[in-house]
Amino acid sequence: MKVTLLRKISVATDICVFELASADGSPLPAFAAGAHIDVHVDGFVRQYSLCNRPSDKGVYRIGVLRDPVSRGGSVAMHALDAGTSLEISSPKNHFPLDEQATHTILLAGGIGITPLIAMAEQLREQGRPFELHYCTRDPQRAAFRERLAEAGLAERTHFYFDSEGADARIDLARVLRAPQDGKHAYVCGPAGFIDAVLAAAAGAGWPAQNVHREYFGAAQPGANADANGAFQVTLASCQRVIDVPAGMTIVEALRAGGVEVPVSCEQGVCGTCITRVLSGEPDHRDLYLTDEERAANDQLLPCCSRSRSPMLVLDL
Ligand code: FES
Repeated sequence: MKVTLLRKISVATDICVFELASADGSPLPAFAAGAHIDVHVDGFVRQYSLCNRPSDKGVYRIGVLRDPVSRGGSVAMHALDAGTSLEISSPKNHFPLDEQATHTILLAGGIGITPLIAMAEQLREQGRPFELHYCTRDPQRAAFRERLAEAGLAERTHFYFDSEGADARIDLARVLRAPQDGKHAYVCGPAGFIDAVLAAAAGAGWPAQNVHREYFGAAQPGANADANGAFQVTLASCQRVIDVPAGMTIVEALRAGGVEVPVSCEQGVCGTCITRVLSGEPDHRDLYLTDEERAANDQLLPCCSRSRSPMLVLDL
């Protein structure tokens, strides 16, 4: 979709909100909290969560942290001026709220607030119980302070600033101390923050399916960083065998063989390329699948994952 950047608003240190409207005035597709869009900018494609109220019609708002050490997309975004034309995808949602939850705990680390503030707004509008825990390095890096001060959000929002010392840090064991069947937790932020939340939730006995997370940034190569050897994939529909050499991803090898798998982030984050595995043992390198999904070994993200077995049979 073609959109126009209406406004760029600074909301915290190094964080701007970009307000986008359709270029031809047509309505933008509706979305639910947790959704993201792909944004094409300067040859980059980046995923950004929608941070406006899902009930707001007519505009999409995304919050972008300017990160000079990232791969360049956020720096290119921050260089844009109002009036710029951009291309975006329709909203996709791999991080939806559970509509049956009896209580929802939202845990944001830094720019991870963007999908979670939309969730907080949606839960407030629906009159459902929730709490929001928002951790940043210092108060100047906490975005959306005005919105979070509104009635219905202020009394449910807890801020934690690293700059205020160890006592001001979040006590995850306390926040997550009482799992229940109907309680759901959502975490978004840097990988270290997410891993700490997942560990605390597991330690407190939370069922894995009640703890939802969304990473941003590149997939980690993990323990098998050196195990980038060659293997083969078979396309189940035609039994064609394709070599995946060392240093090439499955998606790249398939593309070289004339087989296109839809991709977006190509970093194992967004889930767009998810593919069923019919046999063989994947070497999961993504940040998208849950531990249970990885253990089942019946799907993989071929933009980054590889194979532990010499052959993977894919449902392609
Ligand atoms: S393209 Fe995003 S996970 Fe593969």
